[in-house]
Amino acid sequence: MKIFSNFSDKLFWLVIAMGFVFLFTIPSPEKNTKFKRLTKHIFPELKYPYTLPQLKFAFNDLATYMDEQTINIHYTKHHQGYIDKLNGILEKYPEWQNYTLEDLLANLNALPEELSIVVKAHGGGHFNHTLFWRTLCKKSSEPEGSGPYGIILEKINSVFGSFENFKQDFLDKALSIVGSGWVWLCVDSSGGLKTFATYNHETPLNQILKPILILDVWEHAYYLKYQNRRVDFVNAWWNLINWKEVEAIYKTIE
Ligand SMILES: [Fe+2]
Repeated sequence: MKIFSNFSDKLFWLVIAMGFVFLFTIPSPEKNTKFKRLTKHIFPELKYPYTLPQLKFAFNDLATYMDEQTINIHYTKHHQGYIDKLNGILEKYPEWQNYTLEDLLANLNALPEELSIVVKAHGGGHFNHTLFWRTLCKKSSEPEGSGPYGIILEKINSVFGSFENFKQDFLDKALSIVGSGWVWLCVDSSGGLKTFATYNHETPLNQILKPILILDVWEHAYYLKYQNRRVDFVNAWWNLINWKEVEAIYKTIE
């Protein structure tokens, strides 16, 4: 009986010890030294469960430059598809559900491999499209659509010399992408502006660049109206940029 009692005591303490070990080895973002939250977010509300953002324009509002069917499919099928995949993987990782999408994208190397792969592909798809839609508007909605102004124009002139130079730099980046990708205007660590190209749905967030403007150059964004003419699509897109939103994003993250 005494032997059994000693055994029970040992078993009890073994269970307690294992409990402590378990508690201190639960994979938690807070204990992951590689994980660093961003101090400023463009979309602090973007968290699990993810949903489509509201558009500020109707599908046919941009038709002169971006046709209704393309926007409809782009938004309801492509963008929704990325959201569904992102929600699907995060269902399996509840300890990562409460972080912003920007924090997850900026810390891909700190995530479990399976989660990292899906967040990079489909989380990037959701973030990029959310920013893309936000910075579009009808050309008629002055002054938002009439060109950069204020601090954004000053920064563009300071870095690129002129708005025309900036447009050429942006077009060059768009044409440099072989296949699918995105072109970005970002704020760098010194506060200057920088154009940037990424493949697939990669973002510059893990390179400590803060995006303020983005262009989708996946073929699904333009093929129905422009077919292979990416140059024409980029040139048309300049007429749809909501510079008021670009400025608002800049002021959020500066
Ligand atoms: Fe897209």
